[in-house]
Amino acid sequence: MTATLLDGKAVAQQIRDELTSRVANVKKKLGRPPALAIVLVGDDPASEVYVRNKLKTAEDAGMGVHLERLPGATTLADVLSVVERFNHDARFDGILVQSPLPKTLGKDAEQQVFDLIDPAKDVDGFSPISAGRVVQNREGFAPCTPAGVIELLVRAKIQTEGKHAVVIGRSDIVGKPMAALLLHKNATVTICHSRTRDLPAMAREGDILVAAIGRAAFVTPEFVKPGAVVIDVGINSVTKLEDAQRIFARYPDRLEVFRKRGSVLVGDVHPDVAATAGALTPVPGGVGPLTIAMLMANTVRAAELRSR
Ligand code: GUN
Repeated sequence: MTATLLDGKAVAQQIRDELTSRVANVKKKLGRPPALAIVLVGDDPASEVYVRNKLKTAEDAGMGVHLERLPGATTLADVLSVVERFNHDARFDGILVQSPLPKTLGKDAEQQVFDLIDPAKDVDGFSPISAGRVVQNREGFAPCTPAGVIELLVRAKIQTEGKHAVVIGRSDIVGKPMAALLLHKNATVTICHSRTRDLPAMAREGDILVAAIGRAAFVTPEFVKPGAVVIDVGINSVTKLEDAQRIFARYPDRLEVFRKRGSVLVGDVHPDVAATAGALTPVPGGVGPLTIAMLMANTVRAAELRSR
């Protein structure tokens, strides 16, 4: 079997296209388009790339976007005061503080920052109020990655009701909300993690398998029930030649990317899984574009709720 590729890029485009008229309506009502404030602290290279993509996508959608850059040496009090200012700034419908924050800000810095974001502007869905609403299946903002996965499943007409969904990973921003959203779609849900006994056997029970671990090519064919729908949330950069050669031994085009750029992207799912799965999200071009599309959708919705 060769898995059908689930084209996240195309679905993300569809989602963004559907936002166009809603952006125009907000503009009519508020006299400005939906607008997002992004806070970026320090100069983490991966965050720079993510933020650049978010800025470009927002601009392309005709939305307002403001980037507040703070130096890596900023104090937590400074970050909190920026968030507080944006909470009260009527020009912004959504606030996003790019994660991770520099380690120097302390262990619970992110929690303090996300605790402070006004839930009405929490378009990332990271605040505890948003998390509670997701668990209780109430109106609110779900984190963009799991929300994007649900959009993809719905639009690809993949049935969830009565299916066994296995989520590998228990993070607050992907694994836990993913499990809750799948549960609300009437799947039977198992969450696996690093302490799960016989992880491959447990994963193999999944009709739908979501990999959100953050380890390159971790999910090999022995984790996958033949014909399963496999959703790869990971985006890992492989920078060592021997790793690239091991993972992409049978994929010369991907090795060519490594040779040209000195790195190549791989998900949490090993490419060989394509021979076992029934459907699979590619990396790149799967879940990644959906995450940003859902950020835009959440921002538009925040603006609509504010303009009612
Ligand atoms: N870092 C990596 N992904 C994300 C995201 O979706 N939102 C925020 N705020 N930070 C991130």
